[in-house]
Parts: sequence; C-alpha cells; structure tokens
Amino acid sequence: MQLVLLGAPGAGKGTQGEFLEKEFSLVRIATGDLLRAAMAEGTELGHQAKAYVSRGELVPDELVTELVKDRLQAPDTTQGFILDGFPRNVAQAQSLEDFLSASGRGTVTALYLEVDQEALLKRLTGRRVCPKCKASFHLTNRPPKQEGKCDACGSQLVQRPDDTEQVIRHRLEVYRRETEPVLDFYAARGQLKRVDGNGDLDEIFSRILKVLGAAKR
Ligand code: AP5
Ligand code: MG
Repeated sequence: MQLVLLGAPGAGKGTQGEFLEKEFSLVRIATGDLLRAAMAEGTELGHQAKAYVSRGELVPDELVTELVKDRLQAPDTTQGFILDGFPRNVAQAQSLEDFLSASGRGTVTALYLEVDQEALLKRLTGRRVCPKCKASFHLTNRPPKQEGKCDACGSQLVQRPDDTEQVIRHRLEVYRRETEPVLDFYAARGQLKRVDGNGDLDEIFSRILKVLGAAKR
C-alpha cells in the first residue's frame, strides 16, 4: 500500500499515521518530522528550512521533494509507505507521480482527513510533543499519564514552536491556498478517499480502515 495522508494542520495525519504504520507495518515518512530533525541536528537542510518552518511557510519544493525521493529509494519502502505532510502543493504531487511512475511503482491512495475548522485550532494549541522520542500528546484529548512527561521515555514534553496561535493561523491559510488544490489533483485521478476526521481517535481509525477496505487485525 502506497498511502498519502492529506489534511489541514491538526487534522490528525501524525496521530492516525502512527496507528496505520503499526497496523500495516509500513514505513511512515513525515516531512515535518524530517525537517525538524534536520533543524535539531543543524544540518545544511535544517538551516535552510528553519526560517520557513518557524513562520509556517512551505519549505521550497526542491528541498522537500529531494528529501522525499531520497527516502523513497531506501529498500524499506518497496513494500509500501505512508507519506505524512507530502505532497503539500500540486507541484509536489506531480513530482511524486512522476517519480513513482518512472520507478515502476504504481500510484498512491490519497486519504483526506476532513476536520471541522474549530477543532483544528483546539487540537494544535493543546498539542505537546516529546523532544526526544517525538511522541505526541494533547493536554485534554490525549493527556500523558504523568502531567508534562512523555509516556514512552519520561522526557519533559514541549510545545512545537510553530504551534502558537499566530503561526497556526498562517499555516491554515497556507494550507487553504497551497494544499487544498492537491485534493482536486487526486480526485481528478480517482485516487482520493475522504474520511470524516472528527470524533475520537479509535472511531476515526475504524473509518480509515473501512475506506481502505481493511478490517482491524
Ligand atoms: P508538519 O509537521 O507536517 O505540520 P502540519 O501539516 O501543520 O500538521 P501537524 O503535524 O500540525 O498536524 P497533524 O495533522 O499531524 O496532527 P496531529 O496528529 O499531530 O509540517 C510543519 C512544517 O514543515 C510546515 O509548516 C512547513 O513549513 C514544513 N513542511 C512539512 N512538509 C512540507 C512539504 N511537503 N513542503 C513544504 N514544507 C513542508 O494532531 C494534532 C493534535 O490533535 C495532537 O495533539 C493530537 O493528540 C490531537 N488529536 C489528533 N486527533 C484527534 C482527535 N480525533 N480528537 C482530539 N484530538 C486529536
Ligand atoms: Mg504532524
């Protein structure tokens, strides 16, 4: 299965992506996570990406597309993959189609998590993440067992720097302008599946499995 997760900031791409990754034993490639890791390591890519990510702008296509193509050349992706956060505009979607077709790997299924606007802001302002193992929580919707501490590794949880209200509003604008047209790109090719992304985590996951035609294992 070659899956692309689409949805606004806060739609649950990371959360449901983690569930899918476990359920199907697939590699999940999250461009936001890769960029944040590059920024934390201080690599050349990290330096180039930092100003864009912190303002909630898209990082230039050539940087992100190369990053994804490189990752898709690794052998652990030959059985399939889950892309989270890529493609984010039509040019990226076209590059991905061209790359997959040139390497004889078939098309992707694009899964669109559709979430009400008011829910997005609440989800993002309440998100807390583990800087060490990258686990993600929410102050009220998915609280850690011990306040402020990661369930998996015990590190102090932090807020993502781009999860301030001002940057979130800008990310949502960029999403509407740049990423929403990607829905039409996949719909026109018959590759788009829509899922109601409102409600609780398990309920949404069951809906996803249903549209993918897979029962929970
Ligand atoms: P990225 O990291 O991809 O951020 P994003 O798209 O804004 O999406 P988020 O990670 O904020 O949301 P999510 O959908 O993963 O939601 P989550 O599951 O965490 O990208 C960051 C930046 O990197 C971009 O702004 C850009 O600069 C750059 N970038 C990345 N990819 C790029 C690309 N392809 N091209 C150019 N630039 C790129 O859920 C959010 C919260 O809600 C969590 O706290 C969670 O616990 C909670 N939650 C989830 N589901 C539910 C539910 N059902 N009910 C209640 N709470 C829920
Ligand atoms: Mg995410």
